[in-house]
Amino acid sequence: MLETIKERLDAVADDTAVMLQSLLPRTEVDGVRCSEARLLDAMHYATEGGKRLRAFLAVESALMFGADRTLGLRVAAAIECIHAYSLVHDDLPCMDDDDLRRGRPTTHKKFDEATAVLAGDALQSLAFTILADPATHENPFTRCSLVAELARAAGARGMVGGQMIDIEAENADVPLSLAETSRLQRMKTGALIEVSCTCGAVLGGASASNRRALEFFARDFGLCFQICDDLLDATGDVETVGKAVAKDSGAGKATFVDLLGVDGARERAKLLTEQAKSHLAPLGSRAKALSDLADYALLRDS
Ligand code: IPE
Ligand code: IPE
Ligand code: MG
Ligand code: MG
Ligand code: MG
Repeated sequence: MLETIKERLDAVADDTAVMLQSLLPRTEVDGVRCSEARLLDAMHYATEGGKRLRAFLAVESALMFGADRTLGLRVAAAIECIHAYSLVHDDLPCMDDDDLRRGRPTTHKKFDEATAVLAGDALQSLAFTILADPATHENPFTRCSLVAELARAAGARGMVGGQMIDIEAENADVPLSLAETSRLQRMKTGALIEVSCTCGAVLGGASASNRRALEFFARDFGLCFQICDDLLDATGDVETVGKAVAKDSGAGKATFVDLLGVDGARERAKLLTEQAKSHLAPLGSRAKALSDLADYALLRDS
């Protein structure tokens, strides 16, 4: 089973990379390198690599409801642009101050801080440019819905809001409770994971009840995914994980590992995986890829 899901994940990852290549601005026009090429180089750099898990959720959710795979890949590329931007900014010295990402120097180390900030900004704009393009869906209401959902998930009540709470928690007098930590994690990481499924469902014209089932799945899976990320920080090794490890505790990060210990956090992740999968029941065998992904993500070592 895990072999198959890995192959399927790799296929989506490869196709998303090709799609991103076709959508990112070109550094050369008629053989001449444009003056803003440094920014474009950084955008390309920041979007390379990664597991492409959000892309997989978007593509598989879209396929589940009969959407065209190429359109699913456009949506996947848009979401990966937002995700890449979130990582570029997350690694900056004023945030987590990290030098390694996806096994390579972080974007501000490879280029410089100003370029990294601007590349993140431009990736965010590009995501919405892709979704608003008629090539993403013929129906303007569908396109508008994709834009609105991604904007909401990426914004103040989603990823960026979660990042704010994460950073503030580092210096809080009283550590965050389990409930507060859950909310933080659902916002900073869960929101983009959830919207990946939502966008796939929107693209495929899923019924309200099917879309809800997917979103319930993604809600539990998203929280589980961040708990596993925190576990990798506590127990992983830098070569395999491809980014710095053993940093969260010293930085005062609010994590489930900090609150429940490694074993407690692992138990919680297992429970959330089972809970996530149970929400897929109404979708039947169509949801097998997502169910397999949840099992796979629990066992990941990077
Ligand atoms: C890392 O996400 C940041 C989190 C939200 C936990 P991923 O583990 O999906 O990163 P990539 O895209 O595979 O590098
Ligand atoms: C990042 O969480 C979540 C984002 C919104 C980027 P982390 O700070 O734990 O992610 P990593 O460990 O640096 O990938
Ligand atoms: Mg962070
Ligand atoms: Mg970080
Ligand atoms: Mg982390």
